[in-house]
Amino acid sequence: MIILGIESSCDECAAAVVESGSRVLSNVVATQIPFHAAYNGVVPEIASRKHTEWISIVVQESLDKAGLKPADIDGVAASAHPGLLGSLLVGLSFAKAFAWSRRLPFIAVDHMLAHLYASRLTLPETVPGTAPEPPAVPPAYPFLGLLVSGGHSIICRVDDFDRVEVLGTTIDDAVGEAFDKVAKYYGFGYPGGAVIDKMARNGNASAFNFPLPNLHKGEHRYDVSYSGLKTAVINQLDQFRAPGANADKRPEDIAASFQKAAVETLLRGLFRAAEDTGLKTIVAGGGVAANSLLRSRLAERGDLRCIFPPMELCGDNGAMVAGIAGVYLARGDRSPLSVTASARVSGFRRKYP
Ligand code: KG4
Ligand code: ZN
Repeated sequence: MIILGIESSCDECAAAVVESGSRVLSNVVATQIPFHAAYNGVVPEIASRKHTEWISIVVQESLDKAGLKPADIDGVAASAHPGLLGSLLVGLSFAKAFAWSRRLPFIAVDHMLAHLYASRLTLPETVPGTAPEPPAVPPAYPFLGLLVSGGHSIICRVDDFDRVEVLGTTIDDAVGEAFDKVAKYYGFGYPGGAVIDKMARNGNASAFNFPLPNLHKGEHRYDVSYSGLKTAVINQLDQFRAPGANADKRPEDIAASFQKAAVETLLRGLFRAAEDTGLKTIVAGGGVAANSLLRSRLAERGDLRCIFPPMELCGDNGAMVAGIAGVYLARGDRSPLSVTASARVSGFRRKYP
């Protein structure tokens, strides 16, 4: 079964073709970053306009790269929630129209469940003769999920590709949002995650002692919080820039010290959840799953199996949408064409979606 997947929930206009829920035949991501960089954040109106302009070109390119025609497609999928409403509607409407005009089954998917699915995908060989990535056997359910992006920070128990119980989440800002805000205030660049990750490699993570949230009691055992850390790092800015102060400290040190606190906050909740549930496998997804410190700190835990999507499938992409849709469609699920987009997923704090 060959599925076309469309993703337009935020600032990436993306489409991909995936076979049998796992083999990626093409994956096209047109990023809008240059259009939002001047504002240090995504401007929703610009995002939906760019999606409108680009969507049919991006879908055509995904078919071309897979060497396929519309007639070769067996099903169509799009992200329907959560995300920016105007942006979601562009991809969702395009996907519905494609499905309707070709009388194909259609499925609307949850963007965060799609992120969680990304590590089960196999990319095509980039160098002929080399093994495609990842060759690993997909993990059996149940496992722990770590969903970390610009809008979400979720630690969850995953019992199936569509059955997720939220154990912990952020009580304020998302982890990716904290990376973006810190980078914005310090003028490091946009989006902040990748920039801070790169800068941190040349910085001293012990140069500044940023606080970890104090959330270890009762029902907050696996929850995380980023507004305190974000504020502490931003409050350091005036002091950091004061003439003569911190002469021995560099922007790279800020980046490394912030990143360390941000990652340790996640790991604290995650390791507690692993200990309490006895689950030894962790599957990560979302833009922040590309973070090198997060990856290396989890790799240190020889007692846990930690699975990350390939780097190019951590951020938003259509392959994860087409991949998870393949499993829904194989099960016989279909979405009505009346389905619409929603910006939020109700009640995701404890039960998701
Ligand atoms: O999943 P994603 O592409 O979009 C959303 O669904 O939000 O995640 C985007 C987020 C941004 O906040 C970005 O700064 C962050 O992922 N990010 C990173 C890294 N690469 C992207 N955060 C930390 N380290 C990275 N290497
Ligand atoms: Zn995302």
